[in-house]
Amino acid sequence: AIARRIKRPVVLVGMMGVGKSTIGRRLAGLLQTGFVDADDAIEDAAQLSVAEIFERHGEDYFRDGERRVIARLMDEGSGVVATGGGAFCNEQTRASILQRGIAVWLDCDIETLVERTARKSHRPLLQTGDPREILTRLHAERKQFYEQAPIRVVSDDGPHAETARDILEAID
Ligand code: S3P
Repeated sequence: AIARRIKRPVVLVGMMGVGKSTIGRRLAGLLQTGFVDADDAIEDAAQLSVAEIFERHGEDYFRDGERRVIARLMDEGSGVVATGGGAFCNEQTRASILQRGIAVWLDCDIETLVERTARKSHRPLLQTGDPREILTRLHAERKQFYEQAPIRVVSDDGPHAETARDILEAID
C-alpha cells in the first residue's frame, strides 16, 4: 500500500559517506520497491569503476555520465535512488531530480563523514589530501545545493535502519 502511494522516485542526495546507499537499500525494503545506486549504474554503463572514470576521463566526463544515468532513472519513475555526493550540485542533474523525483537531503556532521569514509578508500575526491579538510570544504561548498532538496533528514549516529524509517515518515 505504501509503495503505491509513492509515485515518484525517492532520491537520496548528500555528502559522500553519509550512508545514502545503505540507507537507500533499507528504505526500498520498507517501501517494497526497487533500489538503484547511481554510481553503480554509471559503472555498469561505462564498464569502468568510478575511480577509473575519474583517472582516464576526468571529473567533467563523469558528471556528464552521471547526468545521463540519473535522467534515465528519473524517467523510469519509481523506486529509491542513491546518488553520488556531487550529483545534486550539477545544475542539470539537480533540475531533473527536482522535477521528477522526491529529493531527500541526508545530512550528518563532518566527524561522522570522516569516520564513515575512512572505511572505504574508493573515492577519488578524497585521495588528493587530508580527508577531513576536503570533506569540510566540500560540505561548505555543497550545502547551498543540498538545501534545495524539499526534505532534510539527519543521520548522525543512529542506526541506518532508524534513518530509513525517519525518511519514510518524512515523505509520507
Ligand atoms: C562523489 C561522490 C561519490 C562518487 C564520486 C564523486 C562526490 O559517491 O560519485 O566519487 O563528488 O562527492 P558517494 O557519495 O556515494 O561516495
